[in-house]
Amino acid sequence: MTQMRLQKYLAHAGVASRRASEELIRQGRVEVNGKVVTDMGISVLETDSIRVDGKNISNEQQIEDKVYIVLNKPAGYVSSARDQFGRPTVVDLVQDINSRLYPVGRLDYDTSGLIILTNDGDFTYRLTHPKHEIDKVYEALVSGIPSKSEIERFESGLEIEDYVTAPAKLSLLSAKGNNAIIRVTIHEGKNRQVRKMCEAIGHKVLTLKRISIGPIALKNLPEGKWRRLSPEEVKSLYQ
Ligand code: URA
Repeated sequence: MTQMRLQKYLAHAGVASRRASEELIRQGRVEVNGKVVTDMGISVLETDSIRVDGKNISNEQQIEDKVYIVLNKPAGYVSSARDQFGRPTVVDLVQDINSRLYPVGRLDYDTSGLIILTNDGDFTYRLTHPKHEIDKVYEALVSGIPSKSEIERFESGLEIEDYVTAPAKLSLLSAKGNNAIIRVTIHEGKNRQVRKMCEAIGHKVLTLKRISIGPIALKNLPEGKWRRLSPEEVKSLYQ
C-alpha cells in the first residue's frame, strides 16, 4: 500500500491541485483520522481517513486497483508464485483474478489454512516485517499431550537452533486418543517455527493449520477457496 504526501493524496483524489491542496492544509481545513493537520510534511496511507471541510474524501477508489485476498490453502500446495519442482502453488488456486498475486509470508507445503495474497508489495513488506508483531494463530494435532511445564516452557521462550523464540501462547483444546489438538499463537514467522517449537517440548506436529492473522480469521471459508478482503479488513491489518 503506497504512502504519499497529504497534498499529493488530495490532488490524486481530485480535491484540488497540489498547490491549492497545500493551501487547504495550511488553512486547517483537512483532517487525517479525525485530527486537523496543518503540517505540510506528513504522509498518509490509502487506508487513512481523510476529510476536507468535514467531508470524507473517498479512498476506496484508490484501493481498488490493488487486490487483497484471503485463501484457505490446502496442504500440498507451495506458498510461492512458482515452484521449481512443478508442484501446485497457492497462485494456481486464484486463477480467475486478473492480476499477478504474491503470497504474504509463507505456509509450509504440508500446512493448511489462512494465507493472504496481494499485488501490493508495500503491504507485504509491512505485514511481514517482524517489528509489527502481528499475531498468527494455528491449530495443530500433536503427538502426546503437552504437560503444564512443557506449556510453560513453550510460552516463555524456547531455544531453537540459533535463536530463542519470543513469548507465545499454547492452549490445549482437546485430546484425540493419545494425541492433542492445541492452539498456538506466535507473532514471529521463522521457518517451520510452530513445528520446531512443538518438537522442542517433545510433541511432533502431525497436522497444522493457520486460522488467523491479526484480525483476519478463516472462519468458514472452505479449503481451496478464497475471498477478497474488504477495504475495512485491509485497514484493520494496518492498525
Ligand atoms: N509454522 C510452521 O511450522 N509451519 C508453517 O507453515 C507456519 C508456521
